[in-house]
Amino acid sequence: MRIAVFDTKNYDIPALERAGKEKGVEFRFFEAKLGEDTAELARGYDGVCVFVNDDVNEKVLDKLHEMGVKLVALRCAGYNNVDVRAAYGKVHVVHVPAYSPHAVAEHAFALLLTSIRRIHKAYNRTRDFNFSLAGLTGFELHGKTVGVIGTGRIGRAFIDIAKGFGMKILAYDKFPAKDAGFPYVDLETILRESDVISLHCPLTEETRHLIGKDSLPLLKKGVVLINTSRGALVDAEALLEGIKSRVIGAACLDVYEEESDIFFEDVSGHIMEDDVLARLLSMPNVIVTSHQAFLTEEALSAIAETTAENVVEFFRDGVSKNELCYHCGKIDSCRSARLGKCF
Ligand code: NAI
Repeated sequence: MRIAVFDTKNYDIPALERAGKEKGVEFRFFEAKLGEDTAELARGYDGVCVFVNDDVNEKVLDKLHEMGVKLVALRCAGYNNVDVRAAYGKVHVVHVPAYSPHAVAEHAFALLLTSIRRIHKAYNRTRDFNFSLAGLTGFELHGKTVGVIGTGRIGRAFIDIAKGFGMKILAYDKFPAKDAGFPYVDLETILRESDVISLHCPLTEETRHLIGKDSLPLLKKGVVLINTSRGALVDAEALLEGIKSRVIGAACLDVYEEESDIFFEDVSGHIMEDDVLARLLSMPNVIVTSHQAFLTEEALSAIAETTAENVVEFFRDGVSKNELCYHCGKIDSCRSARLGKCF
């Protein structure tokens, strides 16, 4: 089993090599992202392994199919960058549905605490021997209301942490869990009543710009918005408006709507073309990390192991439990997807 790994970063390689050696999968690493211009690199491989910003559109899938590539193995949970419908009948798609929800939930909290206790400012100050506390007054989480949108694996891990801080939980999910141990409310209540809002739902047509111009008038003044899910859940221009008008008190972003050519790369020697991102980064109350929430030793090992298992299982059995079913995309609740009967 020969798999071409696209958009490889140095930190991807050790865990994938280890898992590949254990399971008999040969991973070959390419720095290029998969797209129409680079699909040719996959010629002669049984499958491709891709990440969040590879563009696996219909043309790319047709090209892969024409070259005899049978599998697209996502080494991530989200799959909004793969046209799963276009893959139907041509190329099978597998993903890593869960690796470490704690990696992302803990990062969301790290961003939140950094923001509200001004740690980013204090860090820079003390390194410059400036020990003044002026402007560093924060606020406490205990007793505050946190609205969690999306209560899957990561959302629930986030809620567990928030409970530990003594926060009041409000949750919204299109498919609420039974016996959740926290109250579900409608989206408007979350927007109106939350001191902190954290996004943990997938990006779909329905959730695109979930936080946008229409949400701004509903938000509680000074709300802290955390997005560790997918950039386009938030309309970046509306976010900027919300911050400028002081409605949004702070934003903690691990993802950004137009991140694909910027995040994961060192563009420090270039002129920033994205004016909205540049303006957001200039705000003292905006913290941006570069889609880093997943990046723990534990998560990288789990991702590599599941990816190698997905490959082995698919080429051995012709199906994989982690296959994405184009009919509904819900691997947990769809029987045909679970049985690998999607195509
Ligand atoms: P999950 O599938 O366990 O949970 C997603 C939840 O969102 C489900 O409960 C689902 O019912 C809910 N949902 C679906 N449509 C919705 C809607 N229209 N409105 C409200 N809720 C809706 O997924 P998991 O593992 O918790 O991951 C959540 C997201 O986190 C992923 O979709 C991915 O985009 C993002 N992610 C980000 C990472 C990072 O490094 N920043 C790493 C891993 C995931």
